[in-house]
Order: sequence, then structure tokens, then C-alpha cells
Amino acid sequence: MKRKLILDVDTGSDDACAIMLAALHNDLDLVAVCSVSGNVPLENTTENTLRVLQHIGKTNIPVYKGCSGPMIRDVSSSYRVAADTRAKVVVDGKEIGIHQDYLPLEESKFSYQATPASVFYVDYLTKCQQKVDIVAVGPLTNLAVALLIEPRIVDNINEIVIMGGGHGISNETRCAEFNIFYDPEAAQRVLKCGAKITMVPLDATHKAYVNYEDARRLRELNTNAAKFAADMIEHRIEFHKLRQPLEDVNSCALHDPLAVAYLIDPTVLKDVQLLNVEVSLGGLTDGQTVVDRRYFQDNRNVHFAFDGDRKKFVDIMCDAFK
Ligand code: BDR
Ligand code: CA
Repeated sequence: MKRKLILDVDTGSDDACAIMLAALHNDLDLVAVCSVSGNVPLENTTENTLRVLQHIGKTNIPVYKGCSGPMIRDVSSSYRVAADTRAKVVVDGKEIGIHQDYLPLEESKFSYQATPASVFYVDYLTKCQQKVDIVAVGPLTNLAVALLIEPRIVDNINEIVIMGGGHGISNETRCAEFNIFYDPEAAQRVLKCGAKITMVPLDATHKAYVNYEDARRLRELNTNAAKFAADMIEHRIEFHKLRQPLEDVNSCALHDPLAVAYLIDPTVLKDVQLLNVEVSLGGLTDGQTVVDRRYFQDNRNVHFAFDGDRKKFVDIMCDAFK
């Protein structure tokens, strides 16, 4: 039987690849996509999500528009603005962003559903007959609000897979990864909800990097999905080279689809350890995922991946996008 999943996104160049992987892989049954504010404001993440589904001919998959900002934090303060500062670099007077406000795809001709995303979660998860996986690759606001409304929805969640956090690596601040930093209270609520949680942090996504050769391989498949994934990868490599070079300087982290790939083949994540992970809620470490690696520890709540298999990851995308 296909694995049913709901995808939560702040689309976004890498979210776009996660949507295509979840919608096109034969082993998965994508029930719905929920949008949230994050990489770009909510109106943009929602429109971008619709554009991606339209581009790959999957307008039958419903899109639910979610929360327009964090549960508590003021988006206008500090770095917590929708189009975040780390994601832009100025070269020769020209601004390069890792996420464009709108993805370079045709404007959407179909619309999102009337029900807000958090209400959809509550409705769907209180009624569904088969347990569902949730893959969240943006800030965790939609799910946290749903859990506040009806905590018993965890009974119908098979597993929550989160792209977010980091142990040895951060990107938004010296301590925090973007998705968790954007809405740390939401992340803390989700991490403590009692469902099985697998976390795909920067430690794993930076190991499962993709390079120009991988983009070339995708482009040769000559489908809408493969060519668009190749475009996104090449765009991200240019940005990573300037702002966050990886061990292969001609490569980028494609974060979000790695969380979807885990549902297809769990061995795409390596060195996965069940540990206690909580979120720092203030000060210098605000938004940091605090990972307890001590041997004698209690409250192990998260399967935290320290490594990823980049070859398997690329094979999975090629298989889905061909
Ligand atoms: C995460 O932040 C966003 O910019 C990406 O879409 C990804 O989900 C990586 O830190
Ligand atoms: Ca994202």
C-alpha cells in the first residue's frame, strides 16, 4: 500500500523539489499540501505551491493555505522577517536570493481550498481511517496550531518528518537553523507532541549535497519536473558558493526533498539516533535545536539524522522525475 502523506511547505526553491518528489513518486500518496509563511510571505508560498503542482500536472492535489506568521514572535522584529536576510547576497549591485519571491513558473490557474491549513489538519486527522505521515519542511506553525486545537490528532499520525534544526551546523544565526528559528515555540510544541518524530537537520542535508553533475543528470531526463529541479539546483549552487560553501564547492544543500526521500527509502538518512531534542526559546541560542547526546538521558523524543546518503538521494529524485 502507498504511504499517505501530507506535506507542509514554505515554497521556496527546495520546497518546490520536495513537492514534486512527494507528488510524483509511485510509492507515495500525497493527500494535501499545506502552505505556511517562511522563506517568503504566505501569499507567495501559497502561489508558488500552486505553480509547482500545475507545472507537473498535479492540480488534483488540494492546497490548504496556512498561517501567515509565527505563533508568538513578531515577524517585523530582529531577523524574523519573511524574506530573511541570510537568503540574499548582492553581487555587482544585483541581488541574488536563494528563494525568489515567485518561482519562475506560469502563474497558477487553480486555487487553494477555503479551509485554513490548521483546520484541515484537525478535520482530516480526526476522521481518517488510515494513519498518515506528515512531512514538514517549513516553519512548524500550522501543525502546532492544529495540536493546540486538538492534541488527539497525534493518534492518527504515523510519523512526523521535519526538515529543520542542526547540531553541528546552523544557517540563520550562529546557533539556529531557519525553519526552527522562524517559529521556535511551534517547533517545541511539535517536538513534544508524542508522535514519532524524525528530524532531517542541516547535518544530514549538507552531507547529502547535490552538484552540477547531478543537475545535468536530471536535465537529461527531459521532463518538466526534472528540468525544473535542475534549474533550482543550479540556482542554489550559485548562492551556496557565495554564502555557504560546502565540502564540494560546486554543490548545494537541497534540504527539503531529503525529508520526503526518507519516506521512500529510510536508508537515505544515516547515523540516525533517538535522542532528546528541545528548542531554545530565547537569548543568544534562540531557536537552536538542543540535542542531548549524553548516554544516560531521558525523554528521547526525536530520531535525529547526523548524516545522509547523497547518491541514494539523487537516485530517488531521478527515479521520481523521469
Ligand atoms: C530550510 O530553510 C529554508 O530556507 C529551506 O526551504 C529549508 O526548508 C533550511 O534551513
Ligand atoms: Ca522550506
